[in-house]
Formats: sequence, C-alpha cells, structure tokens
Amino acid sequence: MPFPSQLAQVPPPDEAGCPDAGRARMPAHVAIIMDGNGRWAAARGLPRVEGHRRGVVALRRAVRAADAMGIRYLTVYGFSTENWRRPAEEVADLFGLLRIFIRRDLAELHESNVRVRVIGDRAGLDEDVVALLDEAQDLTRRNTGLTFVVAFNYGGRQEIARAARALARLVRAGQLDPEAIDVDLLGSVLDTRDFPDPDLVIRTSGEVRISNFLPWQTAYSEFVFLSEHWPDFDEATLRGAVEQFLRRDRRFGGRNARAV
Ligand code: IPE
Ligand code: IPE
Ligand code: MG
Repeated sequence: MPFPSQLAQVPPPDEAGCPDAGRARMPAHVAIIMDGNGRWAAARGLPRVEGHRRGVVALRRAVRAADAMGIRYLTVYGFSTENWRRPAEEVADLFGLLRIFIRRDLAELHESNVRVRVIGDRAGLDEDVVALLDEAQDLTRRNTGLTFVVAFNYGGRQEIARAARALARLVRAGQLDPEAIDVDLLGSVLDTRDFPDPDLVIRTSGEVRISNFLPWQTAYSEFVFLSEHWPDFDEATLRGAVEQFLRRDRRFGGRNARAV
C-alpha cells in the first residue's frame, strides 16, 4: 500500500479547521514553504541541484504523511514568481524536477485517491509543463482523498491583482456593482477559491517570512517556523509542527477563552 496510515499519533480529523475560538483542532489545511534545499546541499559540499532533488524526496514523504494523518488539504510552495530571479540553470533544474515528479509520481498519487490541484500563473510556463499540470489535475479530478495543491509560478500579490482584474472586467461589462465587492466575492475569484484557508503554515530552514505565499489566505493561519532544512523534513517533523499547532489558542479576534 503506497500511503500507509499508521504513522500518525495525532488525533483523528473532526470538524477540522472550524473557525471557532479556543483550543485548535486538527488542521484541515496545512501549507508548507519548502525552504533550505540550497543550504542543505551547501552544508554537505554538494551542488544546489542535489538539494532540490532531495527536496523532491522530502515532498513525497510529506504528501504520504499528511494523507496518513488525515489532513484534508496540503499546499506546497514549489516555485515563486520571484524565483525567476535565480540563475537560468537553477530555474531549469527546478522545472526539470517538476516534470520528473509529475511523470514519476502521478500514477501513485492517483492510486492513493489524491486530488492534485495547481495554483499560480500559467503564463510564462513552457507548453509541456502546462500540459503536465493539466494532466495531473484532469486525471485526479474525481478523487476524494487528500487535496494536494502545488503552488507553481505562484505569487500572492499577483494572484490578488489577477482577481481584481477579473472583478473589474465584470464591473466594466455592467455585470457587477462595485458595492457588492466584499471579502467573500474577492475570495471567490482567487486561485484558492475551492479550498479552505490554511490552518497551519510551516516554513523550514529558519527564515521567518512568508515570501509572497498566500498573503490573503493566511490572515488567521497559525505559523510554525522550523530550523530544519526542507530535505530533512519527514513525518516526525510534520507531526511535531501539528502538535505545536494543537497547543495554540485560535481566537479569530474573539475573546481569550482562558481569560474569561
Ligand atoms: C527551496 O530551497 C526551494 C525553492 C525555493 C524552489 P532554496 O533553493 O530556497 O534553498 P536556500 O534557501 O537557498 O537554502
Ligand atoms: C520561497 O522560498 C519560495 C519557495 C519555497 C518556492 P525562497 O527561498 O525563494 O524565499 P526567500 O527569497 O528566502 O524569501
Ligand atoms: Mg530559500
């Protein structure tokens, strides 16, 4: 069985992610900023691409572990709109690894009932990459297990600007009253419209920033920053982050339940 389900020692999912105040429940949606591949490689005297390769292995582990723990949505930051600033050779390596990942892992993801979704800007991606992303989404469209969201060529500010353009077009066409634009309507034209907001955001490798990852959707997410580099991430790391999350007191602006 490709995705063993005995790894978890965290509570089973319940009405996960419900925005009610008090002790957090099992996160329905975990989002990960997979950082530190380069530093992992540098610490071993290896080329950066080796860090990225090992990052793919860690990604495979993370998907299995999230699925086994009963997490319903896992979003990973694969390539940011700002990552184009890297040397062309590294960008090519990252796209090469995406191609390999989809070709090698899609069948297993599908067998495991994982639904793959991709967010980010398709413009600027090679045709064959777009075709692979479409294939992954189409093949797994009806699956009912873990929703695995890959943020590729994704930038949160760009996503919000795209959503604003979409609404502005409707206003220009006379189909939308500007006064009707509220948080729900804007949320409904974002790439993430089909997913709940992340409950927990994990970033590896010590940087304490979100680097343009889901700025709208993480307004009330809990953040866990870990010192481990991404290639070292495994199910124990994920379980540890979820345990931190479960100790948090989510208030969503309400009163502190412990203080009343
Ligand atoms: C994360 O590792 C992978 C991507 C950004 C695609 P990095 O390549 O950012 O690794 P560091 O931060 O340089 O160590
Ligand atoms: C964020 O990591 C992007 C991804 C993990 C894909 P970066 O390594 O690009 O972020 P910065 O540049 O350190 O903020
Ligand atoms: Mg980095």
